[in-house]
Amino acid sequence: MIRIQNLTKRFGDRVAVDNLDLEIESGETLGVVGPNGAGKTTIFKVLATLAKPDGGQVWLGGLDVVEQVAQVRRRIGYMPDAFGAYDLFSASEYLDYFAAAYGLRGQARVAAIRGVMDLCDLGPVRDEAVGFLSRGIRQRLLLAKTLLHDPDVLILDEPASGLDPRARIEIRAVLLELKKMGKTILISSHILSELAQLSTRVALMEKGKLLAVGGLADLHGMITTGRMIRLVPRKETDRAEEVVRSSGLAKEIFREGDELLIVTEDGEGDPDRLLTLLLEAKIGIQSYAEEEPDLERIFLRLTRGDIQ
Ligand SMILES: Nc1ncnc2c1ncn2[C@@H]1O[C@H](COP(=O)(O)OP(=O)(O)O)[C@@H](O)[C@H]1O
Ligand SMILES: [Mg+2]
Repeated sequence: MIRIQNLTKRFGDRVAVDNLDLEIESGETLGVVGPNGAGKTTIFKVLATLAKPDGGQVWLGGLDVVEQVAQVRRRIGYMPDAFGAYDLFSASEYLDYFAAAYGLRGQARVAAIRGVMDLCDLGPVRDEAVGFLSRGIRQRLLLAKTLLHDPDVLILDEPASGLDPRARIEIRAVLLELKKMGKTILISSHILSELAQLSTRVALMEKGKLLAVGGLADLHGMITTGRMIRLVPRKETDRAEEVVRSSGLAKEIFREGDELLIVTEDGEGDPDRLLTLLLEAKIGIQSYAEEEPDLERIFLRLTRGDIQ
């Protein structure tokens, strides 16, 4: 559905997207994850025909996004990372305004507005001024607007950013619904866990480059073939860390306050051997337990803590 080849975008001397390749299948939900400044918004703007690439090519449904702007716009729904100023409109006026801009008339316009309002659960706020809506509801309204012309590709730039947990769950429910409808979805976030349940694949990005693309299982496998242990020493975290480090059994050690998160090498008995060494060194242990390696840490490892 989407093919990005050698995409480069510069702002002056700064390379925002650096020779990037990415393909997205029809019906797929691809999560693009990376810290601020990674280049997520820039890629999305190029796809949405709002920024011109400096190099490379981008196709969407067989259309060239630089050459065939009007056709591409009909196929996509783009949700920008900012809302814009429409504070005095009521929610339904806001949708009506954009439905008109999309060229929807008469019954088709009424039906389209009703459809997206139902989907995004906006009925209760239809007459409220946009400027007074909570951020969570405003994001749902922005998403509803994106869906008015029934696009089959959705490009959603950090739709859940700045939302409280409840609003986040609500928007995720709408996104899952859209996924079920068979839409192709490109969604960004700087929080991995937000996209984990939603995405068929995740693209990890930093400084304009892709670090890794794959299903969550692939990414886990790529980075942590070892096991992860959380060690809570009674005291002397520094000394415990030193023992772990010098054991040669740790591939990675993350310090979290007084706790240590240890990724072991790939050997079968590593956790047991490490525990033995700690006990021999007379480190008091409050707890020592294996954990499921999580994405957040995979990402930290990939970016070597180089995260903003
Ligand atoms: N309009 C612009 N002018 C100058 N630099 C920009 C502009 N837009 C983005 N950049 C720069 O390009 C890089 C990528 O930005 P962006 O695509 O917004 O990243 P992200 O969405 O991942 O936070 C950043 O270094 C940013 O400062
Ligand atoms: Mg951005």
